[in-house]
Amino acid sequence: MNRIQPTVSAENLTQFETLALDSSMNLADGHARQQLTSAQSKIVAELPDMWAEAIMRPVSEIEQEAAESFFGMLGQHSHPFAAGRTLSCYSSSLAMEILARSLVTTSDAIALLHPTFDNIPDILAGVGLKLIPVEEEQAHDDDLPAELLEQVGCVFITTPNNPTGRVMTEARLRRLAEQCAEYNVVLALDTSFRGFDTAAQFDHYAVLEASGCRWVVIEDTGKLWPTLELKIGWLARSANVDLPIEKIHSDILLGTSPLILLMVKRFSDDGADGGLAELHRTIAEHRALVRAELAGVPDISFVDEQARVSVERLHVGSRMGMDVWSAVRSQNLYVLPCQKFHWARPNEGERMLRLALSRNPSTLLAGAEVLRSALLDTPERHR
Ligand SMILES: Cc1ncc(COP(=O)(O)O)c(C=O)c1O
Repeated sequence: MNRIQPTVSAENLTQFETLALDSSMNLADGHARQQLTSAQSKIVAELPDMWAEAIMRPVSEIEQEAAESFFGMLGQHSHPFAAGRTLSCYSSSLAMEILARSLVTTSDAIALLHPTFDNIPDILAGVGLKLIPVEEEQAHDDDLPAELLEQVGCVFITTPNNPTGRVMTEARLRRLAEQCAEYNVVLALDTSFRGFDTAAQFDHYAVLEASGCRWVVIEDTGKLWPTLELKIGWLARSANVDLPIEKIHSDILLGTSPLILLMVKRFSDDGADGGLAELHRTIAEHRALVRAELAGVPDISFVDEQARVSVERLHVGSRMGMDVWSAVRSQNLYVLPCQKFHWARPNEGERMLRLALSRNPSTLLAGAEVLRSALLDTPERHR
């Protein structure tokens, strides 16, 4: 029996994700909600000892160890923590807010990847920056036009991208950084999903430094491990960035929790010791499970064949994404409609849904079954 649903009013992706938080079939947000591995469970069991350790030791020492372990696990050996240019934040969104507030002191426009997770455009627009879309194909395939680089103070790229999973190659990053250096434009990267894809684990900091461009990178521990929102967003910058990042960071916070930093260090060390490879296998299995469960449904496709990130886009063919979303919601399954990723032209996402893969297999299986019958029942719709 269908329960009567209140009307949905969600203005951004996070509000759609919030609707799902209490559901047992939440495939909406991209946060990690799968079971802890046995190695991770052991680390969690040691949290009381870490608490005692965090009280005893200097925070700066703990922060440095966490950064060395996390960036090291991801191949980012040239990261600038030792040079005093990496700040820790409670989350990557806070790092983003600090970057946005810094950028708006020197420029009024930014070139931003399209599509991408909507809290990035929302935070940038929220401080008054004008956003100019850079299509994903263009960012990955061609030089950016001179007229664009002359208009903006920053080029912002999410790599791997959410929701597409697309990763910027080393050669492409080098060329983009050279262009940004030439036009004195800041190159900003959000690499929150890099842990899922080894293609995104070449040493970005070496490439950025060699280019001489002004750069900022936002890294995130929050998408990888099921740590109940205990996470760190790192905000790293070049020596020549010439933005008031440190001041604005200190306007907002003194620092992050040494307990969380110790936990990040331990999870990272485990990641480097095989945990990350295990996570890659888990996500690949979950992707295969969802694809197999939906196999044979007419007029659907998985959009991002190469994706390795913990989310998967499903094209629902001639159906409307919101029709499918409403149908599965009435069965208590939550997924994400994709319009809002397409922040400049939402209609481009109206026939796609995003499914989260960092869940337990039983949740994915139950969700895929509900989705399968909803897809079979949802009629075609022409706009
Ligand atoms: C690419 C990207 N960056 C940043 C964020 C924000 O992360 P948080 O909510 O942990 O601040 C998200 C959230 O999903 C994201 O997808």
